[in-house]
Amino acid sequence: MNSYTNNCTGEFHLLSFSISADFQIVFFTGILLMYLLILLWNLVIVVLISLSSKLHTPMYYFLCNLSVQDIVYVSAILPKFLAITITQDLRIAFQGCIIQMFFFTFCVGTEFLLLTSMAYDRYVAICVPLHYTTIMSKGVSIILALASWLVGFLTALIHSVMVSFVSFCTSQYINHFYCDLKTMIQLASSDTTHIKTLLFVVCVVLGLFPFLLILTSYIFIISTIIKIRSSKGRAKAFSSCSSHLTVVILFYGTPLSAYMIPESEHSQEQDKMLSLLYTAVVPLLNPLVYSLRNNEVLTAVKNINQKYFRFQTAATNTMKHY
Ligand SMILES: *[C@@H]1O[C@H](CO)[C@@H](O)[C@H](O)[C@H]1NC(C)=O
Repeated sequence: MNSYTNNCTGEFHLLSFSISADFQIVFFTGILLMYLLILLWNLVIVVLISLSSKLHTPMYYFLCNLSVQDIVYVSAILPKFLAITITQDLRIAFQGCIIQMFFFTFCVGTEFLLLTSMAYDRYVAICVPLHYTTIMSKGVSIILALASWLVGFLTALIHSVMVSFVSFCTSQYINHFYCDLKTMIQLASSDTTHIKTLLFVVCVVLGLFPFLLILTSYIFIISTIIKIRSSKGRAKAFSSCSSHLTVVILFYGTPLSAYMIPESEHSQEQDKMLSLLYTAVVPLLNPLVYSLRNNEVLTAVKNINQKYFRFQTAATNTMKHY
């Protein structure tokens, strides 16, 4: 059985946003700039962490993973969205849709698990600092990172395979700017109860459960921080997890509210705007939060700068001899 024939015409139309022709170029430029900034910032984070040995700790390795995941995430959605906006050719092949959905689910699942691993890392660092190096060994952090990617991958695979067997014969118009699973299911002409059940289970397992773990970690972290006597020590402990806390709030706030609010209570337009915020803004804030609020990262930038300038000075000195 060829699953691709399940979509009667073999393609969908992504309705995207209804924007007037005058505004189209502005909108396109805005999204393009966001996309390039996201790629740039996240690449900078990956390069920075790889280059500075001071940042070779589990927390920054996880952050590096998060940046790689952000790059994959936006690249699955924004280029097609940009193409649709500028050409007004709204078509997307059924296979293209499934692939987009695969990468979207893969990244979102991985992201939640990476954030949970980071919360655990912060918990160990602040609550049991003396055992940090033994508990958060290189092996453990690699296992946590690998498991995050693997679970995200398997979830995405199951989703995509299931959706590729659904028939979409009545309508091919997806009222969204990418192939959003929830929007697509509403168009299905065959029974989708099993997918809805799966979606619910995944929301609980990959959304709620990690959230509770993160919450538990922070309850322990905060109660430990409160007990620290010196205010300097308290500030130091808090600053080592404030970036992560900010990112967690950003990541959880948007998708959870989008997926958990009952369908009748918010319009599809609101849903799309919220998704746009999540796809174009949050992946940009993640490296920003970490780089601007964090002394360690700023010092790493300075060190790399110094190294580079020292190299330049050496080069100019050598040049002078000739
Ligand atoms: C992801 O995290 C693991 C564990 O800390 C690390 O070994 C690996 O280098 C990271 N990979 C990337 C691409 O950031």
